Amino acid sequence: MKYFLILLFGTFVSNAQIASEQLNLMPWPQKIKLFEGTFALSKNFKVNITGNPNDRIFIGATNFVRRLDGRTGLFLEQSFLTKINEKPEAELQINCTRNGKIEINEDESYQLIIASNKIIINATNDLGALHGLETLLQLLQNNSTSYFFPVVEITDSPRFTWRGLMIDAARHFQPVDVIKRNLDAMASMKMNVFHWHLADDQGWRIQLKNHPKLTELASDGNFYTQKEIKNIVQYADERGILVIPEIDVPGHASALLTAYPEIGSKVGEGKITYEIQRNSGIFNATLDPTNPKTYEILSSIFDEVCPLFPSSYFHIGGDENNGKEWNANPAIQKFKQDNNLMNNHDLQTYFNMKLIPILKIHNKKLMGWEEIMTENMSKDAIIHAWRGTNEGQEAGGALIKAAKSGYNTVLSNGYYIDLMLGLESHYLNDPLPKKIILSPEEKARVLGGEAAMWSELVTPLNIDSRIWPRTAAIAERLWSNAEVNDINRLRKRLKTISFRLEELGITHIRNKEVILRNISNNQDTRALNDFSNLCEPLKNYKRNGGGKKYRMHSPLTLFADACNADAAQALDFNEAVNTYLDNKTVANSKAVTNFFKKWVVMNNDLIALSTNAPLVQPLLPLSQILSDLAEQLLSEMDKKKKVNPTLMKDLLEKCNTRSPADVELAVYTSLKKLVDIQ
Ligand code: ACM
Repeated sequence: MKYFLILLFGTFVSNAQIASEQLNLMPWPQKIKLFEGTFALSKNFKVNITGNPNDRIFIGATNFVRRLDGRTGLFLEQSFLTKINEKPEAELQINCTRNGKIEINEDESYQLIIASNKIIINATNDLGALHGLETLLQLLQNNSTSYFFPVVEITDSPRFTWRGLMIDAARHFQPVDVIKRNLDAMASMKMNVFHWHLADDQGWRIQLKNHPKLTELASDGNFYTQKEIKNIVQYADERGILVIPEIDVPGHASALLTAYPEIGSKVGEGKITYEIQRNSGIFNATLDPTNPKTYEILSSIFDEVCPLFPSSYFHIGGDENNGKEWNANPAIQKFKQDNNLMNNHDLQTYFNMKLIPILKIHNKKLMGWEEIMTENMSKDAIIHAWRGTNEGQEAGGALIKAAKSGYNTVLSNGYYIDLMLGLESHYLNDPLPKKIILSPEEKARVLGGEAAMWSELVTPLNIDSRIWPRTAAIAERLWSNAEVNDINRLRKRLKTISFRLEELGITHIRNKEVILRNISNNQDTRALNDFSNLCEPLKNYKRNGGGKKYRMHSPLTLFADACNADAAQALDFNEAVNTYLDNKTVANSKAVTNFFKKWVVMNNDLIALSTNAPLVQPLLPLSQILSDLAEQLLSEMDKKKKVNPTLMKDLLEKCNTRSPADVELAVYTSLKKLVDIQ
């Protein structure tokens, strides 16, 4: 009898597990129990809040109701939520014990219980409750006529406390609405740190009333007013997100030094001046760490920046100081000798250490890119790792070194979404991989990670498509259990998750059509769309090799801007090719050759389009080669006609050369497999 019961129970659990895998949840919760039955949604559906939460839960619950109504079109009766226990009879009850604090290591856990006639969210505080509401929205299901939630019990909390997104607003300015919609999207993925890169060689983006020269001389008029900054910090707070400002020093300082050349390190004849940069790259402009005026100016800048941001951290950048101005300045070299500073790294530590007491006045701890980690750096600093690997014994990554040396640390290496790499590389990049060799104490210093959106090649038009949906995969890596790592399951869920981001104003899907319409000169965009689904922008900064092709005023409205990582059709083609190579049936062959036929038609359509669309011209060489190769492969596979192998190899290689459109064919590897077997 006992044996029988165990068997029965086992069947129930595994069925429930299979069923729960059909749910499009992201990040995947820690514990989920799915039961038979549903909660039916009607226009009378209401929400009630009890306990002692922060008022942000009212905004969160109101936004929840509006989004639910937008999806279902039910004309829900409840309007704005403003009071505790306003609707005691409501079907959704949210209970929060206390006020949540927007800071690291705060309790963000929640429990979501859906029964057939009642829904309960229990959370220690409003931050967990907000996460519970996002999960509930993701659980919404429908049949042909109505909407419902499954009966389910979810217990959830984050694996890492730091789940961030950095947006660089310096290279290309990103206006308030771009930031706000991305904060909404972050909150939907349970991310809790927005790192705002506000100053770099290409611009100073924050209004400082005591230093008007900064925005007058070094922003091209593109900056956030203090009112806008406060408004965004408040908006983030309402969504449970901490905002960390970054003012990058002592390098990346062209903008700062355009306004204050007197604290630069450059030497030369006559008056020293600096200019904001129009290219990408690493530049020489560096603050003079030996000049007391440098600290005076920085101190008064921080006096104005710090109060705008309630967070306890302040990011000082500290990366990529090339040391050229320091090396060329005899007074700085003498200062190093006089102060026993062996090298530029020591000098930079000297500089960083001077910033610590300045920030302490404002109760801020210093955070910086990994270059700030030198022997004498204060252990209070957070090290932001962006280079090296964190796997295995030989791992040279700064993350490991930082954790071993007693620093708290955050990982961005592997989360550089501007590299335009595929989903998988980010998703499988675990801050604490199984093989990592760290003690439990050291592991606890790994706070989490941050997706890094550098903006050399993004404007408000294309930035969302570079951030999303790949950042959702990073959000899951940082929230969910390490064992949740099946890329196929992720891809499947991501289809729905990506679509739902549109509800929050994210433009990653719709702006593709906007860009393609511009390229087509307002003609039919179908062929362009088909081609864009086979191409990916050049990866690893190859698109802008040397940082000079795309300047800060160059067009980012081109075909490469419409294309994205993880080209959609390429995934389908690769699967068709693999299926065919495993089993060369007529049906499997046809699945592949259907692609080829489409590509030949697509190329002809693009040629036709180009007669009245100059922006299509740069695409034609690649499209033509693809079409030629498709015709050759069609002859082989359909008509069984032997084709000259040298010609095929030649075409294949041409598929792999740099296109003037700055994209690469995402089907190249699969095409190679087919050519190689002919
Ligand atoms: C960096 O990418 N320079 C932090």
